[in-house]
Amino acid sequence: MKKKKDLLTLGDMREHEIIEILDLARRMKKAPFSKKGVFRDKTLALLFQKPSNRTRISFEVAMVQLGGHALYLSPQEICMGKRESVKDVARVVARYVDGIVARVFSHSDVKGLAEYSPVPVINGLSDAEHPCQALSDIFTIREKFKTLKNITVTYIGDGNNVLSSLMLACAKTGMKTRISTPKEYGPEPEALSLAAKAAKEMKTTIELFADPFEAAKGADVVYTDVWVSMGQEDERDKRLEDFKGFQVDSRVMSAAKKNAVVMHCLPAHRGEEISEDVIDGPASVIYDQAENRLHVQKAVLLKYLS
Ligand code: CP
Ligand code: NVA
Repeated sequence: MKKKKDLLTLGDMREHEIIEILDLARRMKKAPFSKKGVFRDKTLALLFQKPSNRTRISFEVAMVQLGGHALYLSPQEICMGKRESVKDVARVVARYVDGIVARVFSHSDVKGLAEYSPVPVINGLSDAEHPCQALSDIFTIREKFKTLKNITVTYIGDGNNVLSSLMLACAKTGMKTRISTPKEYGPEPEALSLAAKAAKEMKTTIELFADPFEAAKGADVVYTDVWVSMGQEDERDKRLEDFKGFQVDSRVMSAAKKNAVVMHCLPAHRGEEISEDVIDGPASVIYDQAENRLHVQKAVLLKYLS
């Protein structure tokens, strides 16, 4: 029997594996029903401890369009770690389904699921990473610029899960990354050092800037995410204060290249990390980016569940 493979982090993915997913996703976008039936009789569990729009819908619709079935388990149902241990949840759920997408608070929970589940586990967001998001993000970048070569991605905002996966994805595919966060909200050190190592191997760079305007200079892509992630609601007031000056607005965009695009994983807090005119403006590829979650999810499922 083939050994199961999990998708928990982009840290252990090789460039050619990432490109393979992007190429498959491109084929799926061109012909969405071309693999209808491949997953006949297969079921995917979506084990979510946090709310979701894009991740849940794209995985569910992807399963349907591949001929399979998805089972959404909301935070109230499984109560992983409270009603039952992560170990028992993994062992039991895997007896019913062919794969698990988990959205968790603590990354150790998705690792625990993977350790005890005999079926593949895919990270649908943890406090540490959002790998499926980053795969869609670089798919969108390649779609817009027709290449990943000589592309500069600037990330402005919180050094969170989305940034960790994005900088790993960029470094592993040879893109240059420029990051600007408030001092005490910098990138997660372990992910940064992995990404820096990958960047070196790919002969590219990751640079940190105190000033978002400086970071945006010469960027092809300006990317941001919320200042208050799920689970950090108690820190909201402090964070809004600390992130002042880090909004992606028309001034920041004026530092980027003329044809630069703006990206956001969504949900967005309009008027906080991104101004209304920029999110709704001509540089925004944010809704294509959201759509691409579906095409990339299909490629991820085909690679990990087949
Ligand atoms: N970007 C993203 O993961 O969106 P959801 O939280 O709505 O799934
Ligand atoms: N950083 C955000 C991403 C949401 C898709 C969060 O974790 O809430």
